[in-house]
Amino acid sequence: MKLAIIQTKPLFGEIKLNISEAINMMESVSADLFILPELFNTGYNFIDSSEAASLAEAIDGVTYKNIHQLAFKKKCYIVYGFAEKSDKLYNSCALVGPDGLIGVYRKIHLFNSEKLFFAPGNLGFPVFELPFGKVGLMICFDWIYPEAARTLTLKGAQLIAHPSNLVLPYCPDAMITRCLENKIFTATVDRVGEENRGSVNLKFIGQSEIVSPKGEVLFRLSKDNPEVRVADIDLKLADNKYSTERNHLLHDRQPEFYL
Ligand code: ACM
Repeated sequence: MKLAIIQTKPLFGEIKLNISEAINMMESVSADLFILPELFNTGYNFIDSSEAASLAEAIDGVTYKNIHQLAFKKKCYIVYGFAEKSDKLYNSCALVGPDGLIGVYRKIHLFNSEKLFFAPGNLGFPVFELPFGKVGLMICFDWIYPEAARTLTLKGAQLIAHPSNLVLPYCPDAMITRCLENKIFTATVDRVGEENRGSVNLKFIGQSEIVSPKGEVLFRLSKDNPEVRVADIDLKLADNKYSTERNHLLHDRQPEFYL
């Protein structure tokens, strides 16, 4: 299958512009699955919860409508991060296909100030069966909890779609370990640029990447520039869970010793 990662440079609060730039980037290539960053439409660095609420959308809002239109036109699947307005505000990502919404993930492990704006996710870690394979969802800081990727692996994910807004430097290298310990593909899709708002200045580290079940970084994008990259990958490679001929990563687990 062809997997496209779309490293964007959103402008804070400019939802229409951010959607149209992301769509232009996706229009420039063909792929079965496109992945956009966390909060790709709004930007990340909210000043307070009322600002987050004013930029959040219901799942069927304007962002969904634009993304679905493209998924319908290109007959493809798209994962994108957005601020979801529901009973509470969630830092969510949606998976959309040609026929509409397939599912939503609400970020479980909120990072730093996100705890001031969003409620922790309440839907678990989902895996969806698509025509080309099984795709699990997690968002950014979920990477630091190995349980997130392990849960998605135990639920059958061959690829983890991982929309992100990374500010710490560790994740791109850590994802190699997530892939080795689970023998899965991961696609971490970050943004670039800076957001200086209120008293908080954040610089996003870019370096979006696709990593294979062997821990190979198939490619890592730049630290500073918006970029689109497409990889042709065989998701069935994630079905072999043997690290050596005698070590099956899942069968050899010893859960009675784990907390
Ligand atoms: C993050 O979870 N956006 C760092």
